[in-house]
Amino acid sequence: MFSISFLTLKTLCIPYFLDTKTINYYYKAIDKAFTKEPLMIEIKNLTKSYGTNKGVFNLDLTVQKGEVFGFLGPNGAGKTTTIRHLLGFITPDNGTVKIAGKDCFKEAHTIQKDLGYIAGEIAFFNHMKGAEFLHFIAKMRALSNLDKMHSLIEFLELDIHVKIRKMSKGMKQKLGIVAALMHDPKILILDEPTSGLDPLMQNKFVELIKREKKQGKTILMSSHNFEEIERTCDRALIIKNGKKMALSNIKDLKNVERKIFYVALQNTKDKDIILKSDLKIIKQNHTDFEIEVSGNLDYFIDVLSTCKIKSLDIKKQQLEQVFMDYYKEGGGKDD
Ligand SMILES: Nc1ncnc2c1ncn2[C@@H]1O[C@H](COP(=O)(O)OP(=O)(O)O)[C@@H](O)[C@H]1O
Ligand SMILES: [Mg+2]
Repeated sequence: MFSISFLTLKTLCIPYFLDTKTINYYYKAIDKAFTKEPLMIEIKNLTKSYGTNKGVFNLDLTVQKGEVFGFLGPNGAGKTTTIRHLLGFITPDNGTVKIAGKDCFKEAHTIQKDLGYIAGEIAFFNHMKGAEFLHFIAKMRALSNLDKMHSLIEFLELDIHVKIRKMSKGMKQKLGIVAALMHDPKILILDEPTSGLDPLMQNKFVELIKREKKQGKTILMSSHNFEEIERTCDRALIIKNGKKMALSNIKDLKNVERKIFYVALQNTKDKDIILKSDLKIIKQNHTDFEIEVSGNLDYFIDVLSTCKIKSLDIKKQQLEQVFMDYYKEGGGKDD
């Protein structure tokens, strides 16, 4: 049978007249194209039933090395149930759950070394101070270098000298983030990591995730905040009633996202400019308009620039709506 080695293929692909530097550049590009990043998280056909529509049903999910993956869904959708399987806390009724090729339940102990996680409900040792808790975790993990712990405490502006019992939800969440990241794990599994954090801290958290991604970490995080997922993740999956609804590249989603604007005009005479334009008017009340814009904003801004505007506001879309609109367009891609 005819076969061709990878090296021959590479050689054939490179034009013979190029200099060494350019050839090496081509080699690297071809290597990259042929090498698929390994799967770090692999969930196949996972089912865990707690009754009709309760639990997780036939769920498939994969996360590649170095990818930040968003796991989205309303309360009770099955996010925590899925994550508990990944942490090796529960066994599936059906299907397989693997991290770095290892079974999450059977090999939980080995997987834990390279895993950092924030569980949905953080069960802390209430009688301990934050510092005591972190040192306790460091000892359990046999962690001698505490540099990352200290830099995280500083970055998140966390007061570790307070008893956990007396900490606010946000402080406990920060403590959870430090405990999850301080041993610099390769994989992060974060169940609603920003719940309880104020908007300023949510921004800092996004920054933190971006930094971790730059270092090649693989991250799966659940959330019901679309904006946060949009800012951090490469792909996102939405589940509802334990079933997968959609899986998308965030970039694709952003391109088709519909925005609704509230536009109030200063002058009645400008009404006609809007009415005669090709803008999609959803509602109109005298000089107040609700306008839908999909994708590019250029035309909308062009039209508005010819009117006198009293106020302009944007309506935030529900995450689910964004996904559903996307899928109505037929733009969805499953892997
Ligand atoms: N141990 C359990 N026993 C019974 N029902 C459960 C259990 N764990 C989760 N559930 C149910 O499964 C559904 C999914 O829960 P969960 O995974 O916690 O959702 P999410 O994290 O997306 O809010 C919910 O209806 C919840 O009540
Ligand atoms: Mg949950």
